[in-house]
Amino acid sequence: MSKAIDPALFRETLGHYPTGVAVVTAVPEDGQPIGMVVGTFSSVSLDPPLIAFLPATSSRRFARIRTARAFCVNVLASDQEPLCRRLATGGAGSLEGVRWRPGVLGSPILEEAQSWIECTFDDIREAGDHFIVLGLVHELAVARSTLPLLFFQGGYGRFSPGSFVATPDPDLIQAAQMAETIRSQVEDLSAELSVNCGVLVKIRWDSVQVLAANQGSIAEPFPLGHRQPIIPPLGAAFLVNSTPAEVDEWLRRAPDDSPDGRDLYRAKLDRVREWGYSILAAGPDLLQRQQAALTAFELSDRLPRHERAVRQATSDLADRFCPDLVPGELYDLASIVVPVPTKSDLPPMAIRMTSLPPSLPVEQIESWALRLKRVAANAGAALSGSRESSAPGAKPSQTGHRKGETRL
Ligand SMILES: Cc1cc2nc3c(=O)[nH]c(=O)nc-3n(C[C@H](O)[C@H](O)[C@H](O)COP(=O)(O)O)c2cc1C
Repeated sequence: MSKAIDPALFRETLGHYPTGVAVVTAVPEDGQPIGMVVGTFSSVSLDPPLIAFLPATSSRRFARIRTARAFCVNVLASDQEPLCRRLATGGAGSLEGVRWRPGVLGSPILEEAQSWIECTFDDIREAGDHFIVLGLVHELAVARSTLPLLFFQGGYGRFSPGSFVATPDPDLIQAAQMAETIRSQVEDLSAELSVNCGVLVKIRWDSVQVLAANQGSIAEPFPLGHRQPIIPPLGAAFLVNSTPAEVDEWLRRAPDDSPDGRDLYRAKLDRVREWGYSILAAGPDLLQRQQAALTAFELSDRLPRHERAVRQATSDLADRFCPDLVPGELYDLASIVVPVPTKSDLPPMAIRMTSLPPSLPVEQIESWALRLKRVAANAGAALSGSRESSAPGAKPSQTGHRKGETRL
């Protein structure tokens, strides 16, 4: 026997090899269609046409799949992570609620899968704690020529081509142009209050800083262009006008996707909707762990395991996010964030104040939030092309509210 290998080292080392993600589907003897997520799918032979996948010998799902007459390997596309998570965890692999049609041998072909391969069982060999299942290919097709879903170090991602030319991100360019329309207002606010002010835009599930006015006395930890993954409770300001499906996706990004966790984050989001702003009541010492995790994440090329650390450190801040504000108490704030009321065809934007002085009374927080709301409302009006809104570069009124300034 070979020398004993540390299981953790085995998993860690083999986890550095990326895989695609496929769902093996079948209609077993019991007649209940089933799906099992596998990362071990591989092409084996062209003549005869063979493929393989490796289910654990302990797998209850495979015990049912092997009773079917045939099976189908459905290769998932990069936008099918939610389906993958659902199938990999709950419901013993039931395909209830999943859209599929039967292949020629009756196996479920999942709608939206990138490609599918329908097979009969050629051989099932035992190999340690797994089986090697060889499938003889009968029918196959590329259904959607799109990017596949990838799995690496316990996290999901997608392929990005190596290239000498950086791919321009159209959303980012548009967002930077949008932010320009309120540059002078953001700069004025930063100078007047001696705090840092930045414009953030939601690009997919990142919050990207596209404008920075750093007149605050405390140094800003993250530079212009900094991207931070949106993980509950953070990012709530981007979700105030989102659909329930988007909110659901946000909730799934939390490390604790339990009903209690969901209720907590939903309550935080409701509070941001009610207040029209969010605060993170954490001083520098409390933020340190999350910022260190973020830095490691950036430096490591955003590797999944560092993303997990960011997720944990971010959700650990949950009770500091929009806590009850008690008059008479003083608060150390990391940030105040106000959503910009943009049209639905534009990416969600927010304006953020950071480098705030310590020990702020509630009235001070509310009054600064109000100042931010005015700039955000002006920005929203400017972005909607309203005539009344300030043209790029116009300053907010110092003496009172202009119509359209307090729409949030
Ligand atoms: C990305 C990913 C890849 C997986 N790959 C395999 C695999 O190759 N073999 C396997 O037995 N289980 C794999 N699993 C686990 C199964 O999908 C499933 O969770 C497991 O079969 C559940 O246990 P059960 O079959 O006893 O119900 C994978 C899970 C994920 C999320």
